[in-house]
Amino acid sequence: MLELKDMHVRYGGIHAVQGVNIKVNRGDIVTLIGANGAGKSSTVRAIAGLVKGVTGQIMYTGNDGRTVNLTGSQPENVVRRGIALSPEGRRILPHLTVSENLDLGAYSRSDKPEIEKDKEWVYSLFPRLKERHWQKGGTLSGGEQQMLAVGRALMSRPDLLMLDEPSLGLAPILVQEIFEIIKRLNQEDKKTILLIEQNAYAALSIAHQAYILEVGSIVLEGPGKELMHDPKVKEAYLGG
Ligand SMILES: Nc1ncnc2c1ncn2[C@@H]1O[C@H](COP(=O)(O)OP(=O)(O)O)[C@@H](O)[C@H]1O
Ligand SMILES: [Mg+2]
Repeated sequence: MLELKDMHVRYGGIHAVQGVNIKVNRGDIVTLIGANGAGKSSTVRAIAGLVKGVTGQIMYTGNDGRTVNLTGSQPENVVRRGIALSPEGRRILPHLTVSENLDLGAYSRSDKPEIEKDKEWVYSLFPRLKERHWQKGGTLSGGEQQMLAVGRALMSRPDLLMLDEPSLGLAPILVQEIFEIIKRLNQEDKKTILLIEQNAYAALSIAHQAYILEVGSIVLEGPGKELMHDPKVKEAYLGG
């Protein structure tokens, strides 16, 4: 469905992503794990069309079976092709209500009745958001803002959902809740998911395929459950 071929990201003189090859098969949860600064956000932001200075190929095969190279695409075109990003740090609009934030996620669509249906579906996934649909985004708790960011990404009705550290800074109970929802989105709603995480244990437990990124390069890849037992992964990411 998605294949990064020798993809590089450069910010001026900083070579943040140094030729990664990553494959995401339709229907899978694929996780990208790595320490701070490894280049994880740069990778998904490049796919989303949010950074300049991207080279290499970002081959994407949409639902229509057509394969295109997304390198250099505008963000709105990437969304239209069926890819959505729930960004790191939540990035919801604090002065807009929960409901208005969700509407923004559907900006690329014009099918009003279907948008309303999807909103109800997002509310069913996150009942807290329904209860607080009138509340300003900025006044939500951290966990609720994270749910709103995921919900907003879902409002474009993506085939490929990219989540950049959805569990960052959340209490353990909410981390569990977010991971349950990720699993459900994959199993029940057939979403393909590219999941960036520092919570390596939780991510590897649900991932079909996993990649470990270190200073801009993939150093290890394999099925999530396999990497969980890899001595190097254990030592560096799972606390020994
Ligand atoms: N907009 C930017 N301008 C310059 N350097 C950046 C920018 N964004 C990220 N970087 C640098 O690129 C590297 C990778 O960052 P990032 O992709 O955010 O890593 P991660 O998400 O794995 O923590 C870091 O060295 C970071 O400082
Ligand atoms: Mg990041």
